[in-house]
Amino acid sequence: MAHALSGWAHRRLSPATLVHLRCRLRGLEIPRWGNLRRLQPFSDYFGFDRGTPIDRYYLLQFLDAHRHLITGRVLEIQMPGYTRLYGHDLVATDSVDIVRGSWDDLTYLVDLADSGGVIPDDHYDCFLLPNTLCVLKDIEGCLRHALRVVRPGGVILATTGALIPMAGGLHDYWHLGADGWTELAARAWPGCDVRIESHGNCLAAVAAMLGLAHEELDKEELEHNDPRYPVLVTLFCRKPAAGASR
Ligand SMILES: C[S@@+](CC[C@H](N)C(=O)[O-])C[C@H]1O[C@@H](n2cnc3c(N)ncnc32)[C@H](O)[C@@H]1O
Repeated sequence: MAHALSGWAHRRLSPATLVHLRCRLRGLEIPRWGNLRRLQPFSDYFGFDRGTPIDRYYLLQFLDAHRHLITGRVLEIQMPGYTRLYGHDLVATDSVDIVRGSWDDLTYLVDLADSGGVIPDDHYDCFLLPNTLCVLKDIEGCLRHALRVVRPGGVILATTGALIPMAGGLHDYWHLGADGWTELAARAWPGCDVRIESHGNCLAAVAAMLGLAHEELDKEELEHNDPRYPVLVTLFCRKPAAGASR
């Protein structure tokens, strides 16, 4: 009887109706899409036009937690915006980019992956790579050179989006989770003190994909951490101090 009923249902009902009935029978929740059933996000610019993008909530927390390390000679990719916001007792606020963009005082115009002889070795106390790693084509080369330019005992502070839209207008290569970045860091930064964490959850990821701003979610919603839904991955790397055994 049950078998005959199932055969009848599969012949007569649409797949969507069948799923709906199955969910009802099993007590599974039915989504109410409202205006979320859409092919275009609310923002085409990560939510910048509405407020602060979701992933930047985690970026700003990461920088704030490490502001004591953003000091002395600091190098930042693109422009020294976060160096100036979070740094203290700065001796140098240098910048590096592969293209000359809107920042007139660019210190090094070079591909980081090919920066030997351009950016000095063992020079910087801190290298900031905010929301950048995903667009670095030769990612292993860039990570190796990031370490090369930091002084012994100096740090790299990097963040990169995972479950966020691809960067429009830039090639976007690497949306990895914490495991992927841990693997790459092990290859490029052997012997270093490396800490990699992912931030986000299902709601934050959906909101980021739709282009909402973090101000539109509650603090508790943003801070719930579910590693299955990495919105932002943060990487801390300290180069071994001079003379430290590897
Ligand atoms: C997404 S932006 C960076 C971050 C920005 N300050 C922010 O807060 O989002 C990435 C920057 O990295 C630069 N870039 C891409 N590949 C590079 C490379 N191989 N070497 C140096 N800079 C590179 C891009 O030109 C761009 O200015």
